[in-house]
Amino acid sequence: MNREDFPMLNEDYIYFDNGATTFKPNQVIQSVVDYYTKYTANSHRGDYDLSQKVDYLYESTRDVVKNFIKANNSKEIIFTSGTTMSLNMIVFGFMKYFLKPGDEVLITKAEHASNVLPWLELEKEIGIVVKYIPLDDNHKVTVENVKNSITKNTKVISLAYVTNVIGDVRPIKEIASLIHANNGLIVVDGAQSVPHIKTDVTYDDIDFLAFSGHKMLAPTGIGVLYAKEKYLELMKPISYGGGMNSRFESNKEVEYKELPLRLEAGTQNIAGVLGLQAAIKYIEEIGIDKIHEHEIELKNYLLTKLKEIDNIEIYNQESDSGIIVFNIKNIFSEDTSRYLNHYHICVRAGNHCTKMVKDEIGIKNTCRISFYLYNTKEEIDKLIEVLKDNKKIYEVIL
Ligand code: ALA
Repeated sequence: MNREDFPMLNEDYIYFDNGATTFKPNQVIQSVVDYYTKYTANSHRGDYDLSQKVDYLYESTRDVVKNFIKANNSKEIIFTSGTTMSLNMIVFGFMKYFLKPGDEVLITKAEHASNVLPWLELEKEIGIVVKYIPLDDNHKVTVENVKNSITKNTKVISLAYVTNVIGDVRPIKEIASLIHANNGLIVVDGAQSVPHIKTDVTYDDIDFLAFSGHKMLAPTGIGVLYAKEKYLELMKPISYGGGMNSRFESNKEVEYKELPLRLEAGTQNIAGVLGLQAAIKYIEEIGIDKIHEHEIELKNYLLTKLKEIDNIEIYNQESDSGIIVFNIKNIFSEDTSRYLNHYHICVRAGNHCTKMVKDEIGIKNTCRISFYLYNTKEEIDKLIEVLKDNKKIYEVIL
C-alpha cells in the first residue's frame, strides 16, 4: 500500500519491526523540511508573522489529533516526547496526588516497561499496591478476569490497548465501565493501538491515553498525552520553565498558564508536531480501518506460511493485530534475527521491553514481526523462504 511514498523502501530492506518504529512517508519528511527551510520560528513567543504562522500550524495539529482520537476538546491534547513521557506525566503529575497508600493499581504481566516501571516507582514512593490481572490461556485480558481482580481498593486500571508482544486487543470500553463503577480511573497505553486501529476516547470513556508519533509515520520525539479536561486541570506539571507560566515575581509569586500550555514547558518539538499532523492526515487519507484490515490479512497469511515450517514455535497464534512472535526451535532469538538480517530482513528479537511476559508465554526471548501499511505478501514470501532454509543459520551468522 502506497510504497512509493516511503524513501526507506528504496533501500533494499524488508522491514518488519514497525512495533518499534515506522518508516516515514515523503509527506511527513517534507513537513519537517518545510518547517526548517520555510518557516522556522519558536511557537507561542513571537509577535511577528513567521512565529504566528508556526503558532497556527502547531495549534492546528492539536485539532487534528483531537479529531483523530475523538476527544471533546483540543485542550485535552498535550504534546510530549512520546508514550513513555506521557505515562510518566500521568503517574507522577496526577496519580501521585490522586492515590493514597493502600490504593490498588491493576496492570498485567504483558505490559511494556513504560506502563510498569512508573507504577512500581510510585508503589515505593507512596505505598500504592500494584497487582496483576491474570491472563487467559491465550495470554489475553478477559472482562471476567478484570471483574474478579477489582476490589474496593482498586482505583486505577492501566493497560495497553494492544500489547506489543501478544498483539491482543483489549476490551477497553468494558474495562473502563467496570473501573468507573468502582469509582476508579482507566489509563490506556495506546502506543501499539493508535497507529493501527480506530481510537475513540469518548466512546470508550478513556480517562488517560498515551501514544507516540514515531510508531505512526511521524518523527521520533513527539507523542501525545490525552486526558479528560477535569483530570488535566488537576495534573501538576513535571517540568517547569518557559512557555508554561504567565508571570513570576521577585516576591516569588508565580502564575501558570491555562491548559494545554501549562503542561508544555520549554521549547517544544515543533518539527515533530508538524510531522505528526502530516502523519495523521496521511493515515486518514488511506483510512485506519483499511490499514488494520491490511495488517490482519498479512498476519493471517504469515501464520499460515509459518505453520508449514516444521521447527517454528509461534507464541501468539490468537493475535488480534499485525504482531506475531515466534522462535526457530532451540535457536536463540537474537541469532534468528541476525540470520534474517543477513538477507536484509529486519525483525526485533529479545523481550521487547516487556520483561514480565516471559512468565506468561514461558520463554524469555522471541522474534517479533510487526506489520504496517506498506508491508506486502511478497515480503512475507521472502521471509518464509529464508526461514525454511534455517538449517544453515550458523553457517550464515558465524
Ligand atoms: N516499544 C517498542 C517496541 O515494542 C520499542 O518495540
